Parts: sequence; C-alpha cells; structure tokens
Amino acid sequence: MVLFMERLQKYISESGYTSRRKAEELILKGKVKVNGSVVKELGTKVTDADLIEIDNQILRKQEHSYFLLYKPRGVISSVTDDKGRKTVCDLVKSEKRVFPVGRLDYDTTGIILLTNDGELSNILTHPKHDVTKEYYAKVKGFFKKEDALTLSSGILLNGKKTKKASFKLDRYDKKTDVSYVKVVITEGRNHQVKDMFNALNYDVEKLKREKYAFLDLSGLKSGEYRELSLKEVKKLYSLK
Ligand code: URA
Repeated sequence: MVLFMERLQKYISESGYTSRRKAEELILKGKVKVNGSVVKELGTKVTDADLIEIDNQILRKQEHSYFLLYKPRGVISSVTDDKGRKTVCDLVKSEKRVFPVGRLDYDTTGIILLTNDGELSNILTHPKHDVTKEYYAKVKGFFKKEDALTLSSGILLNGKKTKKASFKLDRYDKKTDVSYVKVVITEGRNHQVKDMFNALNYDVEKLKREKYAFLDLSGLKSGEYRELSLKEVKKLYSLK
C-alpha cells in the first residue's frame, strides 16, 4: 500500500471534521494529537497510517458527499443549534457528517450546499475565488436607479468596501409599494445583501438565493434536496 504524506490541516479537512482554516486553529490551540502526542506545527505531515485525534475523537477519512438543498424559511444554516431550532442538516438524510457551505439567514430561502468535503467548502467560501451568488430580493418602496448603481459599484460596510456587484430592479409593484430586485454578489459576508439594502434605507421583506455558482434550484421544491453529480463537483473544484 502506498501511503501519501499530507499536511495535517488538509488531512483533517478531508476527513470532513471541519474546514482547513478551522483545522489550523485547532492545531494551534493544541487540540490535535498525532499518534498520542499533541502537535502544534501546522506543517506536520501525516499519512493514513497515523492516528489523528481531536478532542479524543479518532478521525477517519470518509467518502465525500455533496448535497444541494432548497432551504425553507425558519431553518438555521448550521450543524446544531443551541436553541433547538431546525437546522439544514436535519433536512438532509445522510450518514455522513455533512455541514453547510457558508450560510443563509434563518429567514432567507434558497440554494445551499452541504458536504463533508472541507477542502471544497474552503475553496467555495474563500473570498479570492469570487464565487457568484444570485439573489432575488423583495424590498419596501421603489428601488431607485441611482441606488442600484451605488450598491453595484460598492459601499462601505463595517469599514470595508463591498466588491463589485449587480443590483437590478426587476419590477415595481405600485399597489403594494414593493420592488423586486435581482442581486449578484461574489462575497459572502454575514447578512451582506440585507445590510447593503439597509445602508440605503431599504427594508428587505424577503430574500431568496436562486443560484450558487452555476447551480440553481431546478426540479426542487422548498425543503427538498438532491445529490450533486460528479461532473458538478468537478466543476465546483475548477472554480479554484
Ligand atoms: N445576504 C443576507 O443578507 N442574507 C443571507 O441570508 C444571504 C446573503
């Protein structure tokens, strides 16, 4: 048997335990043992013959699973919730320890990926890879052209300028005084779309993520999910 040497943090993320960045934090905090000894060196090389433990749990490499879920409202995008609310992981029946890639707010609906592949999750959520996310927002009032231009070219949010984006009015309903806006962003800051609208005094009444990279919700109803094909997974890897 050929044993491949791999960096410890990569090995941990590939086991599906957590992302590579979180694995690095755990190593630096002294939470990771290799063959019974705590290892704090990020560059440490390991193979399948080594025994890796985190908080006394033995890590095993597992096969990867990839799911695309149509997240309903009122579901939290995490593995567990201390308030006992339903999570996206409760909706996906898998024997693997899958976790959501990035997050959607509790009241946001739409596409979210779940996987146990920490490596791919890392690629998709890293800001340098500019993965596009398309949203459809229902906002109170008439969404002005000049505000669309301002938001598209970038505004300061928590002291940092947002990257170039696309905000376009799809339609305005005079009767109810609401605008429907198509939004495309490449970042994934917390509450980013809502915060951007709020910065120009628009209240977001509903938000749905319709596309994640090249993936959409075709064929799925709210709460339903499907596995990604190998071709789709490869295409996601190629976004690196
Ligand atoms: N931006 C938001 O404000 N909320 C989401 O759920 C996703 C993007």
